[in-house]
Amino acid sequence: RDITSIPFAHHGTPALLTPAERGARTAEAPFGSVFTEHMVSLKWTGTDGWHDGEVGPYAPLVLDPAAVGLHYGQSVFEGLKAYRTADGRTAVFRPHAHGDRFRRSAARLLMPELPTQTFVHAVEELVRADAAWVPAEEHRSLYLRPLLFASEAHLALRPAREFRFLLIAFVTERFFGAPRPITVWISEDYARATPGGTGAAKFGGNYAASYAAQARATAEGCDQVVWLDAQERRWVEELGGMNIFFVEGTGAQRRLVTPPLSGTILPGVTRDTILSAAPELGLPVEERPVSVEQWREGCRQGRITEVFACGTAAQVSSVGTVRTADGDFTVGDGSPGPVAGMISDLLAGIERGLAPDPAGWMHYV
Ligand code: COI
Repeated sequence: RDITSIPFAHHGTPALLTPAERGARTAEAPFGSVFTEHMVSLKWTGTDGWHDGEVGPYAPLVLDPAAVGLHYGQSVFEGLKAYRTADGRTAVFRPHAHGDRFRRSAARLLMPELPTQTFVHAVEELVRADAAWVPAEEHRSLYLRPLLFASEAHLALRPAREFRFLLIAFVTERFFGAPRPITVWISEDYARATPGGTGAAKFGGNYAASYAAQARATAEGCDQVVWLDAQERRWVEELGGMNIFFVEGTGAQRRLVTPPLSGTILPGVTRDTILSAAPELGLPVEERPVSVEQWREGCRQGRITEVFACGTAAQVSSVGTVRTADGDFTVGDGSPGPVAGMISDLLAGIERGLAPDPAGWMHYV
């Protein structure tokens, strides 16, 4: 059966909020706390494949207490954004790239792979149903959260044979609140990912396992944990929920450096976007390992001039201060750098439909 042409039946009509009510609910709402009025749902079983596609009111689920996803964590997700362009249209940023990664995450957890075309179709359905929620203000967007989890009630330790795909959404602004350089804490006790593990998958358990380290970072007065490689505890991999870039040099000598995807790093779509777009801004890019010593020494000698975090949620956020067991150091003078600003402006221009989009990253809905 052609699973890419699954229809999404529309059922039920939520009590729609007025624009004023929507504005009041989403103003100052913390990241991921106020959801829109609709959701998309799709089921998969070993016998019927993908079926029961639906767009309906956002509502709690009825789940069997023995659902595998709750017990053994067979669960993967995505995060992507819909924007209101300056001319009033709606577009989703790189939904095919997110759909492809969703399939790779599912494959790693031995879950059924939702065809990318169906993933994009589901995204279009939700964005259309919740079109009134796509904000027009700069820096605001509709964050879309696709989720796939094992819903089969069966506690034998084997991959499930029934799954649920859900897609929900919320309005988001800045992940770190007001724009300011972030502070990061280098974790030397905890590890996020090991070779052969699940680090490259957007797997729920990776995030649950990061909470303890992230809580330590918060206790140290920092915004994010920095993960080092698990074997040598030396090479920088990524931050709690985002990738990392280093800027080396000044003026025309500047270049971007980011750790290579070694299987233990989440292959960020924003990371990939920056690697593709930076050369056109006159910024050569290099994927190469960076150690904590190189980071510290680079900052001390002025060779590393900026560091920034990037992700769908985080966008582009400068790192100002680094806290380690051996003491703190600052990147540059600790304030946001010009390269992060340039890249952030370029992405914002594309997202608002104001800058050229030669790669066709904006998918108009
Ligand atoms: C995103 O950047 O969209 C992420 O998925 C990170 C999120 C869990 C905060």
